[in-house]
Amino acid sequence: MPLLRRLMPLKDRRADLARVIATEQINATRQRGLRLFELLPGDIVTAQARETAQRLGVALMDGPLERPAVVRTDGATAMRRSLYRRNPGWRAPEQKKRTTARRIKRLALVGAGGVGANIAHLCASADSAREITLIDITPGLAESIALDLRHASGISRSPAAITGGSDLALVAGADVVVVTAGRPRTPGMTRADLIQTNRRVILSTGQAIRDHAPGAIVIVVTNPLDEMTVEMQRATGFDRSRIIGMAGTLDSSRFRQAIADAAGVAVADVEAVTLGSHGEEMVPVVSRATIRGRTLSTWLTSQQIDDCVRATIGGGGAVVALRRNGSATLAPAHATVELIDHIRGARAGSVPASVMLQGEYGIDGVVLGVMCQFGASGLLQIDELKLSAAEQQALHDAATAIARRLAE
Ligand code: 2OP
Repeated sequence: MPLLRRLMPLKDRRADLARVIATEQINATRQRGLRLFELLPGDIVTAQARETAQRLGVALMDGPLERPAVVRTDGATAMRRSLYRRNPGWRAPEQKKRTTARRIKRLALVGAGGVGANIAHLCASADSAREITLIDITPGLAESIALDLRHASGISRSPAAITGGSDLALVAGADVVVVTAGRPRTPGMTRADLIQTNRRVILSTGQAIRDHAPGAIVIVVTNPLDEMTVEMQRATGFDRSRIIGMAGTLDSSRFRQAIADAAGVAVADVEAVTLGSHGEEMVPVVSRATIRGRTLSTWLTSQQIDDCVRATIGGGGAVVALRRNGSATLAPAHATVELIDHIRGARAGSVPASVMLQGEYGIDGVVLGVMCQFGASGLLQIDELKLSAAEQQALHDAATAIARRLAE
């Protein structure tokens, strides 16, 4: 307990007046649960009061005592504490997990860089697929990761059959194909700078999927994400339900983490999603974000909220700037596995992903991040969120920007 709270209130200490400290004051001190009575110069303490103090274990200390500096609390923190005191029993809602999860029969990962390797690792550890095949044009890379993961299975006891190779035909028979292949960003590049280079990678990969795994659901991770998802749909000719761009799960994770850091709460206390593009036109949905069930403005200043939005949009770039020779791997891998878990029925509910819109939000023919429900056949339905007017506009601006880049 801080020293200040153990002392008698200031109104009882009139140093300019000689006080007579009698038994009543000592009893009152003890009744308040205090064990210290501060004597100020001039105070007269009766013999009976001294006796009572001794009997009750109240120390009589010569003052004035030094007091700790007052700690000033900023408004947002004070509000947070008072909300918590009002509702200390708040618990984050349980992640909607299903017990009817299927194992994917054959998961093919095209691209065995950091993201592909980590997806393989996470899926092997979670026993989400019976077979995992890594494919990469760099000689020996996919094989080496497959071997490395098989070596780990003596400890992890993962039963997955993990193989690797460089031939795109190895996607054969896959029910889910994740495409991470392509050039990553280097510092100073935007994701859009990669369009021309990665379009070729998506074209050859898409044709191989069309020819060897015609029933597959394809998750695109290659950047620029929204544009590459459109290119994948063109290359495979698959229905929109089987071409999914992974961005919203990643960006939403970054958004939730930024909010949790700013508010000083656990990430599990935050509900928030991002829609729109995986780039400058990303739409972190502030209007629907909550911390412990309450809107962001209850907890954070508008400046703090703006900072969270900026940190989310710039999250991938921040990793690139630190790393210098590549982009993020761990968070994108987790975000991809989140989609795989929705497809295989290990998670329920809707989740943000980039899919071809057909009139949703009044947008048609553009791939954009929206809330989706997935199942064994891919996209089941799009859930349109009620957005603020500014967020609606931002979503439309994102669609226009993506369409323009694709036309260039
Ligand atoms: C990211 O945002 C790689 O685009 C990915 O980190």
